[in-house]
Amino acid sequence: MTEAVYPVPQDWAERARVDRAEYERLYRESVDDPDGFWLARARERLDWIAEPTTAGDWSFDEADFRVRWFADGKLNAAYNCVDRHLKERGHETAIIWEPDEPSEEPRRISYRELHAEVCRFANVLARLGVAKGDRVTIYMPMIPEAAFAVLACARLGAIHSVVFGGFSADALAGRIEDCGSKIVVTADEGRRGGKRIPLKRTVDQAAEKAPSLQTVLVVQATGADVPMGPRDRWYHQELLQADDDCVPAEMDAEDPLFILYTSGSTGKPKGVLHTTAGYLLWASYTHALCFDYRPGDVFWCAADIGWVTGHSYILYGPLANGATTLMYEGLPNWPDASRIWQVVDRHQVHTLFTAPTALRALMKEGDEPVLATSRKSLRLLGTVGEPINPEAWRWYHEVAGEGRCPIVDTWWQTETGGAMIAPLPGATDLKPGSATKPLPGVRPVLVDEHGRELEGEASGNLCIAASWPGQMRTVWGDHERFFQTYFTTYPGMYFTGDGCRRDADGYYWITGRVDDVINVSGHRLGTAEVESALVLHAQVAEAAVVGMPHDVKGQGIYAYVTLNADASPSEELHGELRAWVRREIGPIATLDALQFAPALPKTRSGKIMRRILRKIAEGDTGGLGDTSTLADPAVVDDLVANRVRA
Ligand code: WTA
Repeated sequence: MTEAVYPVPQDWAERARVDRAEYERLYRESVDDPDGFWLARARERLDWIAEPTTAGDWSFDEADFRVRWFADGKLNAAYNCVDRHLKERGHETAIIWEPDEPSEEPRRISYRELHAEVCRFANVLARLGVAKGDRVTIYMPMIPEAAFAVLACARLGAIHSVVFGGFSADALAGRIEDCGSKIVVTADEGRRGGKRIPLKRTVDQAAEKAPSLQTVLVVQATGADVPMGPRDRWYHQELLQADDDCVPAEMDAEDPLFILYTSGSTGKPKGVLHTTAGYLLWASYTHALCFDYRPGDVFWCAADIGWVTGHSYILYGPLANGATTLMYEGLPNWPDASRIWQVVDRHQVHTLFTAPTALRALMKEGDEPVLATSRKSLRLLGTVGEPINPEAWRWYHEVAGEGRCPIVDTWWQTETGGAMIAPLPGATDLKPGSATKPLPGVRPVLVDEHGRELEGEASGNLCIAASWPGQMRTVWGDHERFFQTYFTTYPGMYFTGDGCRRDADGYYWITGRVDDVINVSGHRLGTAEVESALVLHAQVAEAAVVGMPHDVKGQGIYAYVTLNADASPSEELHGELRAWVRREIGPIATLDALQFAPALPKTRSGKIMRRILRKIAEGDTGGLGDTSTLADPAVVDDLVANRVRA
């Protein structure tokens, strides 16, 4: 099989700031002298109150385990994203906001306006008692106030924890309690694809299970009639007493900037903690490098700020770079499959960054909705969140980008803060489906199951051998879990949880998670979380959840459920369990297939054999392998015979 290679287009090779030789030089320098390299980047890219004199201070070994960068530096992240741009580009647009409803007017917020909004928001929070180091949970729709709230926290030195607006009351309550937020910032309602999302009502339900919560600050977004209780405050009323100026807090480089909850292979979602300087530098540097950002570009990352992609590439990266960032309230395919391209035309977007799952959904609608738009402003396309299948890659490249826009496929994780393996548009030839090469400072290593490092062309588990500034620093409240989760599988290295192949040209091809995490529409979900939700139901005795291939979502959720002796399978119970899981976690946890199973395949020691369940879910019933270690091999025959097709 010959692999398609898309060479760097001539115009890109000429105009890009980083060409092949420059990339190679940067990479070499970053590996030969990481401290010198990052200290120089930190000084040139960020504004400091006190410049750091040291760069990396880290060890992945248990005895002296630590991850710190630029430890003696002092700065403020909001100052870097807003104030420092005022002199040169105060009147330029910082945020373009595109509403859900296409007939409504977009909003354009200049850096000067952003400064005033963030200061006022910070003063409102401060008056409500928020101080440096406090946690603030943000449960917001995609409206500009969400950005103001995030930056207001950074200005005060409070730690924001943004929770995706699609999560349920229970999921929200767990996240409020875990980090001990006393305050939640929310809106009366959100809007998405013409639907209303009752955010305030969900916060009220969450509050019953989150005793730490004292105050709910409510932004009026739709004007819906929502009940206001003793702990609730309207943002627009608080604003009347808020000053336009707020001095940014002086923060240590290693002071926490935010917590973002993400799913792992075991237990509850963990609070990934990022600190101020290293994270901001990573977001800013990778945004500039991967997207060859230059002043005047309109940059659109079509994610939600509830995910890390939104943190790094709607807010922190572009704003640290003084860019114009587009924030879109709605869905790419609403009211119709043309919408995403209409937004591109309306705002003359240069760079579009989205997820493969969105592309696959759009691709299904055919080329017409795309061809009905101009897209002449586009010069670069990006993807993130899951492996992109070559068909979707080619469609994105040829139909959406008319063959003239390179595709930057960025591999990274909530834990890494920003892109890690990705092409640079002026430096890297592209291969559809490959995230290509590591960025400067990133040292990927492939290991076999014994932890032996594999050289050259190989397939294995992806680890990172050395710390980088954007690395997460801890799991909130559980430093031991941080070490256990990422540094014990392959001692001395950060283990990503992903499988990966490296080809003869040194290109990396991510093959997906090798742990019990599934990637549904680019969103991480722990199978254990779905299982815990299922077994909470009174009629469920036991549940096992695995991923299955899904042509739009990438992976779907396949659940095997064993009922209690007094319960029996029915259509009704089937529907009830699907609704139950959605209510427990949120709509992203919608079961794609549910199989009632009289029993689950277990080893004699009682361990569920997930390998077999995965194979059955994939429809690969011929390749079940050795089942002789099962306590009762007949269980498998029943599962195969009653396999559910999604
Ligand atoms: C997967 C999202 C292949 C991967 C930024 C990773 C990808 C997980 C890619 C992290 C990509 C992300 N190609 N797989 N370009 N990008 N992944 O924390 O399995 O939501 O471990 O961060 O998504 O998901 P997370």
